[in-house]
Amino acid sequence: MSLLTSSIDEHIERRRVKKSEKPDIVDVMLDMAEIGSAEMQVSRLHIKAIITDMLIAGVETSTTTLEWAMTELLRNPQAMSRAQEEIELKVGRDRMVRESDLVSLDYLRCMVKETLRLHAPAPLLMAHESTQGCNVGGYYIPPKTRLFVNVWAIGRDERVWEDPLEFKPERFIGSSIDVNGHHFELLSFGTGRRGCPGIYMGLSSVYLVVAQLIHCFHWNVEGGLDREETFGLTLPKKFPISAFPSWKLTTDDPS
Ligand code: HEM
Repeated sequence: MSLLTSSIDEHIERRRVKKSEKPDIVDVMLDMAEIGSAEMQVSRLHIKAIITDMLIAGVETSTTTLEWAMTELLRNPQAMSRAQEEIELKVGRDRMVRESDLVSLDYLRCMVKETLRLHAPAPLLMAHESTQGCNVGGYYIPPKTRLFVNVWAIGRDERVWEDPLEFKPERFIGSSIDVNGHHFELLSFGTGRRGCPGIYMGLSSVYLVVAQLIHCFHWNVEGGLDREETFGLTLPKKFPISAFPSWKLTTDDPS
């Protein structure tokens, strides 16, 4: 909490001198607090709660996805070579991948989708509750029913996916199935009004970090690369990967 207090104080101090030309989310919320509204007055406590919510919801989900993506790439050398070749072709070997490159890295994006299919960080999404009674598939669902969506099981259902336990990013090439909540076979970020608001930030950070890790380094794995999961806030690996990087780019200055 003291970290958040000092961050808000720093923003207020800086804004006294000059408002930022590139406001961040704390600036936006301080603007809302200054303007005020009849509907809701944003307070310091609201700002702290929202930042805490974002950190809790955004950090472990993204890092868990990243660790599973690296695990699957190291377990599947063909997928690793294909992802690396794509980056070398589109970016070259003399600089690091930039955010603006991501749009051209189709295989990389398919690979992250495939990781999310097999290893949804929120395997049961968050608990949802019906506000009104409704009929779904011939069943009456009373109001206030608690609902858990098992996206982990959907992602491994052989009625939906061919070879569901295989890691095959190719299955998404040319496929319209996406993680944006419109395709119920791949609901890694949930759907509808309670779906993840950080989807694009989460995806871009995973794309960028995986791309840089596999583009800048060769990886030597020590020990096994199992798929054991353990239950936590998300569904992380039970045993961490043990892999050692060695520099691969043709330049020492990767900027
Ligand atoms: C790969 C990364 C991520 C994954 C897989 C993920 C997945 C999810 C899922 C499954 C939910 C629940 C949706 C539901 O129950 O229908 C959720 C909620 C949420 N996510 Fe994410 N998320 C990711 C990254 C992020 C990031 C980067 C942020 C913010 C910076 C974020 C903020 C949130 C918040 C605030 C909620 C709660 C929404 C609510 O209460 O209605 N997430 N996320």
